[in-house]
Amino acid sequence: MKPTKLALAALLLPAATLALPALVEAAAPSPVFKLRHDNFEAMGRAMKGTFDEFKKARPSVPAIQAHANTLAAAAIKVKGHFPKGTGPEARVKTEALPAIWERPADFTAAADRLVNATKGLQAAAATGDLAKIQPAAGAVGASCKNCHDSFRKPKS
Ligand code: HEC
Repeated sequence: MKPTKLALAALLLPAATLALPALVEAAAPSPVFKLRHDNFEAMGRAMKGTFDEFKKARPSVPAIQAHANTLAAAAIKVKGHFPKGTGPEARVKTEALPAIWERPADFTAAADRLVNATKGLQAAAATGDLAKIQPAAGAVGASCKNCHDSFRKPKS
């Protein structure tokens, strides 16, 4: 590189560095925020649907099986819904706590616990036996709470 070109590069570099934060700020929020919101909402509805069945005189096993399938399909997506940069620093309204990225192994374990619990509920639902289904649904609920307690901003 000729000395003149070097000097030019040196001049351009700070300008490019300065422009970068502005570009990042102007960028649209990651689509992951909506995906994970919708996915959690779907899980919330499926959990409510499941527990609503338990209140009925005759809970519908097929309805519970459908909710269990929804939960299992949603559960496997949770881990992938938290890429770096989608925490509070993204300046988007989010209840995701920085602990997700500070303690990734613990977060993964909490997500895996949910996946396993939803598989357990599917298996229990397949038996059609409410005595097995109810504790399995309880275990799913406990896995939601387990993660929220550490990784979701508490409601103020
Ligand atoms: C591995 C961690 C983890 C597990 C397991 C988990 N959640 Fe969450 N959940 C979160 C985090 C983190 C947020 C906040 C996301 C955000 O605001 O960006 C959240 C948010 C939510 C929301 C609010 C959605 C929104 O965007 O407003 C609902 C509803 C919800 N979870 C339901 C559930 C249910 C039901 C289960 C269990 C079937 C569950 N979650 C399991 C971590 C988890």
